[in-house]
Amino acid sequence: MPETEAERFWDARAREHALFFVDNRLDYRSPDLESFWAGGAEALDGMLSAVGAQIRGTDVVVDIGCGVGRLTRVLAARARRVIAVDVSAEMLARAAELNPGLAGVEWVHGDGRGLPGIGDGAVDACVSHVVFQHIPDPSITLGYVREIGRVLAPGGWAAFQVSTDPAIHRPRRASAAAAAARAPRITPIGSARPSPSATSSAPRRRWA
Ligand SMILES: C[S@@+](CC[C@H](N)C(=O)[O-])C[C@H]1O[C@@H](n2cnc3c(N)ncnc32)[C@H](O)[C@@H]1O
Repeated sequence: MPETEAERFWDARAREHALFFVDNRLDYRSPDLESFWAGGAEALDGMLSAVGAQIRGTDVVVDIGCGVGRLTRVLAARARRVIAVDVSAEMLARAAELNPGLAGVEWVHGDGRGLPGIGDGAVDACVSHVVFQHIPDPSITLGYVREIGRVLAPGGWAAFQVSTDPAIHRPRRASAAAAAARAPRITPIGSARPSPSATSSAPRRRWA
């Protein structure tokens, strides 16, 4: 599978500081791991209550854009099986390392566009937390929505977010050029903290 721009982008972030780029509320230099992992349960429960859904012990659930498995580990404790998909092999490598021995979890390197290894009507639920807001091309997000409809069994449900911020949907190249044009000309020496890039985990959200 040829490496996509999305994969390069997220692989680089995973190599730099995977946890921070999954949740940039963390302190970059001294991340509070307890609150990071607790955030997975909070995020999942927030999504479930927003859509009025529950995970049953018999469910097969897809976690789209699983990152380092923050929600995956919570899903694994509640569902029968979790298919955790991500476009970034580097994120998935860290997910497997940080969540050793999770029963019923399959880490899947996706193509960044769909759920090709999953059969029609094969799953009970799909969740995706702070992922689609990072996809600059809305047609890719729409493709995922189509795929969600394909893989869900009758009576299945999905919970995901889309952003209401139009800036997110500008092509990444154009955004980078615009950001460069806006950027101050002097860069502080010795600052390891990355600029707040398109990876914010908490823009305005809309639930589906
Ligand atoms: C901000 S992180 C969120 C991770 C996880 N959902 C969580 O809340 O902890 C976004 C994740 O989405 C993945 N991602 C970005 N674009 C994707 C795409 N087109 N298809 C699948 N995963 C994607 C990234 O690699 C990254 O792991």
